[in-house]
Amino acid sequence: MAKTGNIPVTLIDKSAHAETAFDSLGFGDAFSDHMLLCDWADGEWKSPRIVPREPLKVDPAALGLHYGQSVFEGLKAYRGTADNRIRLFRPDRNAQRLAASCNRLCIPAPAPDQLIDWISSLVAVEAKWIPEKFGEALYIRPMIFATEGHLAVRPANQYTLVIVAAPVGQYFAQYGRPLRVKAEDRYTRATSGGTGAAKTAGNYGATLKPMFEAASQGFDQILWLDGDEHAFAEEAGQMNIFFRIGNEVITPELSGTILPGVTRDSVLSLLKQWGIKATARRISMAELRKATESENLLEIFGAGTAAVVVPVDSIQYQDFDIRARPPSANSISQRLFQSLLAIQHGQVDDTNNWIQFVDTE
Ligand code: COI
Repeated sequence: MAKTGNIPVTLIDKSAHAETAFDSLGFGDAFSDHMLLCDWADGEWKSPRIVPREPLKVDPAALGLHYGQSVFEGLKAYRGTADNRIRLFRPDRNAQRLAASCNRLCIPAPAPDQLIDWISSLVAVEAKWIPEKFGEALYIRPMIFATEGHLAVRPANQYTLVIVAAPVGQYFAQYGRPLRVKAEDRYTRATSGGTGAAKTAGNYGATLKPMFEAASQGFDQILWLDGDEHAFAEEAGQMNIFFRIGNEVITPELSGTILPGVTRDSVLSLLKQWGIKATARRISMAELRKATESENLLEIFGAGTAAVVVPVDSIQYQDFDIRARPPSANSISQRLFQSLLAIQHGQVDDTNNWIQFVDTE
């Protein structure tokens, strides 16, 4: 048995790499060969190990399956364009957010540095799975769920952490067309005091029916609104949302009901560094309607790890279309998209210290 750092590695007999369609990568269809497993029992995370990816054996009464005690993360490993080195983008942020999600769901969190070590070890083993194309990456999905079999509604005594990896291209398959979004004024994603800021399975399961209905009406995404009045923009479920009104870029503030996106934070930092006014505050649909009518709504875009930065054409809110100007080559969203990827692929200096390298011996 090989070892990466202190982690035992059992290698797969036959890699699926040669059969993977790297020239037409979507999001989440293909997976790498291995996964990292780790168990929490008797008060500690123990026995991290890298093994061939295969179905898990799970107790049919596992508390994570029945009561949703489950959290996850998403981050990416990129290839350096010039130096071919492997770069993780802000893994410390994901590790901190996982800890916050764990706290909300009563799950014991792995120490952030420990988690980053485990992620790096898996990425080192799966190095050949990192695509080389600009904009493509190895998406890393850590997930923790309660494995103890029990029927009482209470925090479990046993958990499994699993990290899988997937070579990915674009998240949205709408061929570069800006997204058509529906502002959801009936269903609610999160309310004050709920789990909206945590990356937990239930937040996503609850959005499937509204997403299905929106898709059948021709929309690509939903913009979630506040749970009290359905009058204020929150987030888009798979990404945070930004509005450029005149020369200011606005994104909803972190009020506890939206996910604190790592890309959201990076976008705000870059805009400030470029001297563009970037504000996190409450923004109402009425204000967005007014900005559309006065032709001051210059851009709408989403930002997230999976989505990167993606322009939005319009958001239908009740009987009105909140609409941005058509995207141009010098739009802020295009500049953000290029700049983030340039940092992630090592094409420009990492002046913010956002990159963590993974070295393979
Ligand atoms: C991400 O951007 O990493 C996400 O987790 C969004 C979605 C694919 C669930």
